[in-house]
Amino acid sequence: MPAVKRLGVLTGGGDAPGLNAVIRAVVKAASNASIECVGLEDSFDGLIEPNRSRVLTPRDVTGILRLGGTILGTTNRGNPFVYPVDTAEGTRDYSERCIEMFHRLHLDALVVIGGDGTLGIAYEFYKRGIPIVGVPKTIDNDIVGTTNCFGFDTAVSFATEAIDRLHTTAEAHRRIMTVEVMGRYAGWIALHAGVAGGADVILIPEIPFDLDSVARTLRARDQWGARFSIVVVAEGAAPKGGGVSLVQAATDGHVERLGGIGAQVAGALEQMTGKETRHVVLGHLQRGGAPTSFDRVLATRFGGMAVELVRRGQFGVMVASHPPDIVPIPIADVVGRTKTVPPDSDLVQTARAIGVSFGD
Ligand code: F6P
Repeated sequence: MPAVKRLGVLTGGGDAPGLNAVIRAVVKAASNASIECVGLEDSFDGLIEPNRSRVLTPRDVTGILRLGGTILGTTNRGNPFVYPVDTAEGTRDYSERCIEMFHRLHLDALVVIGGDGTLGIAYEFYKRGIPIVGVPKTIDNDIVGTTNCFGFDTAVSFATEAIDRLHTTAEAHRRIMTVEVMGRYAGWIALHAGVAGGADVILIPEIPFDLDSVARTLRARDQWGARFSIVVVAEGAAPKGGGVSLVQAATDGHVERLGGIGAQVAGALEQMTGKETRHVVLGHLQRGGAPTSFDRVLATRFGGMAVELVRRGQFGVMVASHPPDIVPIPIADVVGRTKTVPPDSDLVQTARAIGVSFGD
């Protein structure tokens, strides 16, 4: 394949702190390699609709390293293969239109920054001949093949600070506080923020819980004189047996929306322990704001390596963190899979060893 002269870049799926850091690294590294960058707006919409793209120079990305969000915009409802439309059909396949637009824009390759869904779309385009390099993104840290995704550290740091703050008010009022955190069907944010914030109970999707067991833990704390208890609940956590699911899931376009479990656990625990209980949902606060220094560095390394792979002509791959290196791995090995917390992982075992309950 001839050398890449013009490179498209897009961000897809839910935003994550560090997206702008990747865009900046891609644009700067590409420019230094005499490759022109074109930013596509709102994920693949930039290839579906005309005039939804713009040339990005190093000047355009100056000062964005520390910004949350994405200067290109994003969406988790714009899959071009099943694009939602307001007609009787409901969806339309715009994939050919995207491929035509890719050529009309004189692009030679595409850097796609996104989570599992976006990388799955990218892989379909790769199979149809578009040279693609993927960059994994999610606060949930649930993409297989990479130890870390940028955004995760920022989300965990924010959740940890929130738990720290809840400790003091919970202690002042002798209350139980439940904190619901994001993560979809993986418990990484809950586990890491729970351990970092000194939670007493951590409920994650990978370890189904029993509220009787949680209540016993909280009563025992009361008996030795603890003035408070903190229960971190992953939004995807569910009770043992799968009987009455406490998860309130709704569909929103193509994406399942989770939420509500923290409030339900709080209500049940108040009844079971007789202790005043309050709940907090951290929600999208975990995705906003400036990326941590760790995420800025990881995002910059991902962006730099993505351009290096474009220069080498290595496509159909995703950059991945394999400490101490950033390496390419086949996108085919990643899509359609979820990296969940191994219930016997060292962090779970250590948490148990210091007395944290997982409600099982
Ligand atoms: O995947 C990232 C994430 O923030 C999940 O943790 C959460 O379940 C979901 O996105 C929320 O999506 P939306 O922004 O569409 O509400």
